[in-house]
Amino acid sequence: MAKKKQATWGGRFSTGPAELMLTFSESVSFDHRLAPFDIAGSKAHAAMLEHVGLISARECRAIHRGLNRIEKEIAKGEFAWKSELEDVHMNIEQALTERVPAAAKLHTARSRNDQVATDMRLFFKWACAQVDDRLAGAQRGLLALAEQAGDILIPGYTHLQRAQPVQVAHHLAAYLEMLERDRTRFAAVADAANWCPLGAGALAGTTLPIDREFTAKALGFVDARGRPRVTQNSMDSVADRDVFVEFATAAALVGTHISRLAEDLILWASSEFDFLSLPDAFCTGSSLMPQKKNPDACEILRGKAARLQGNLTTLLTLTKGLPLTYNRDLQDDKPPIFDSFDQTVMALEVVAGTVDGAEFKVDKCAAAVADPALLATDLADYLVEGGVPFREAHHVVGAVVKLAETSGVPLNELPLAAVSEIHPALKPDWVSVFNLKRAGVRRRGTGMPGPRQVKRQLTRWRKRLSD
Ligand code: ARG
Repeated sequence: MAKKKQATWGGRFSTGPAELMLTFSESVSFDHRLAPFDIAGSKAHAAMLEHVGLISARECRAIHRGLNRIEKEIAKGEFAWKSELEDVHMNIEQALTERVPAAAKLHTARSRNDQVATDMRLFFKWACAQVDDRLAGAQRGLLALAEQAGDILIPGYTHLQRAQPVQVAHHLAAYLEMLERDRTRFAAVADAANWCPLGAGALAGTTLPIDREFTAKALGFVDARGRPRVTQNSMDSVADRDVFVEFATAAALVGTHISRLAEDLILWASSEFDFLSLPDAFCTGSSLMPQKKNPDACEILRGKAARLQGNLTTLLTLTKGLPLTYNRDLQDDKPPIFDSFDQTVMALEVVAGTVDGAEFKVDKCAAAVADPALLATDLADYLVEGGVPFREAHHVVGAVVKLAETSGVPLNELPLAAVSEIHPALKPDWVSVFNLKRAGVRRRGTGMPGPRQVKRQLTRWRKRLSD
């Protein structure tokens, strides 16, 4: 017989798949990493089959023992993955069947469609916790740098033009907020993943008397009160890839946030800004120019954002227009997810490492923030306090700035006579405005960059991040 061996579904075929087809269609090269989740799913499924009387207690025990052995082999790297068995599910099932006769009953009332959906939901719950851990690590690194920066001031920028003075700790704490929202987002993804699709079968459930709630509970798909959470529509259960898109979205947004941080660090480390030095361990040199120290880690972080967005786009495009229910296209949902996971985890570790060794240059920061023009807005506020409407005050200060510029004198050194001629509300004490300490102390409202507020915020973060 010319029929090639295809162990699992070959019954109605007269010939096996072409070599090229095997290479083209296998997924075990990337989905083998689902093995721990696949095994957990199979154990729970077997327990349920026993619970409803579809297999005996003995058979269930044999299946569990066999799966435990396979899990150990896989963990030790001793398991022989075979691409001709297509995917992680068939590889494990086949290996189990060779050792445990009862394994022939394991796939009762189950399809690879609900199996892979379950595996991935277990993966997402695990992966979200991993990412959360790395997000917290990056936050701790940023917080340590902010604390170390103390009351160092730098210019804050809009349009990349010097705008107003801020504590650099305040600037860094903005990223703590972003990463905190990322953590909330990943927690929501984990919650969305927390519904058990097992029992949906290929698409239409099963005629056998299974207990979906039992399996869900065994796998930890439960709500806060321990009640099982099972998906409510068998067709949606095997066709739905929303959680994939949500996970990739959350990862893409992490990428976007850290790309902005990376860009700030790159600018600050440039000779033009020179606000900080980056750690050697996360920089590289030039093969040609001996003097160079390049911020490669930060540049790669910026690049990763593109890759993470690409993965999101892949998933949205993969699922758009797909007819219900399962289609093999969906096999390609995994590489972008695994890539987003791996890259996000690694990028966050790099963020932690980079900020850990960064150091602000106190003198350079002080020089940059010394420009009195950064306090032009404070001068407008001074006029407002003297009863001048803000729009008029803005105009008046504009005229003062212009005078300073045309006469080539620093703003705060203009003679009183000249400025009070522009507006009589500019009294002898007008120069008191050009004091960075005063400017900070006065910014005392919630979320503002004054020293007391910043200290309060950092204390809040310290508490939050040491839980
Ligand atoms: N490897 C497949 C995937 O990842 C598992 C489901 C296969 N189902 C099927 N009907 N061929 O999507």
